[in-house]
Amino acid sequence: MLSIDKTLFIGEGRNRKCYIHPNDNDLCIKISSKKGSRSSNRERRYFKRLHFFGKNMSMISDYKGRIKTDLGNGDMFELIRDSDGSISKSLKYYLNLNDDTINKQLISQIEQLRLYLINEYILISDLGVDNILFQKDSHNNLTLKVIDGIGDNNQVPFLEFIKPLGLKRSAKKWDILISEITTTSPNVAKKIKPFIS
Ligand SMILES: Nc1ncnc2c1ncn2[C@@H]1O[C@H](COP(=O)(O)OP(=O)(O)O)[C@@H](O)[C@H]1O
Ligand SMILES: [Mg+2]
Repeated sequence: MLSIDKTLFIGEGRNRKCYIHPNDNDLCIKISSKKGSRSSNRERRYFKRLHFFGKNMSMISDYKGRIKTDLGNGDMFELIRDSDGSISKSLKYYLNLNDDTINKQLISQIEQLRLYLINEYILISDLGVDNILFQKDSHNNLTLKVIDGIGDNNQVPFLEFIKPLGLKRSAKKWDILISEITTTSPNVAKKIKPFIS
């Protein structure tokens, strides 16, 4: 069993606490609360199917398997870091900077995400401003990475196999992301295309 020191804590959302993997700087371990375990199970199954179907995972922090820890069962994912080694910042963080040059990059990356999700047919359930990170390289270029909220949150994953319905569902979730962005950054939100036109 892997022991996780509390100093490795990175952050938490509604359901999970996230820690740096003690033996691998490029992985994080997410530990679910009891209430979050159902959605974690669903997410794990969805990632397995994405792998099975050979989807391109370039815009997603990929799933790397389960692990037993002294804080409970964990799920391992790619840890998103900037080129200087610091943990990448969220869409929320970058929106709050309210910087025109950065906003342009955010808008262009969000458009890339939209095209990527459609082309790969990857479903989304909860793409909030905390669940999207931007990996910064040494030239200050930002690359979008989704860390949470992937997959349909229906218990039975039928939408995966009925593409028109799945796209409709993703479009609704996309609208929720846009309205979340609107509350802090209406000028950015205005420039984001609807999921399907
Ligand atoms: N792959 C990752 N790389 C860097 N930080 C992450 C990663 N995954 C999660 N985090 C951090 O941990 C927090 C909680 O993780 P998240 O998967 O969003 O949990 P929840 O399902 O509870 O929302 C995130 O908001 C972020 O700060
Ligand atoms: Mg989250």
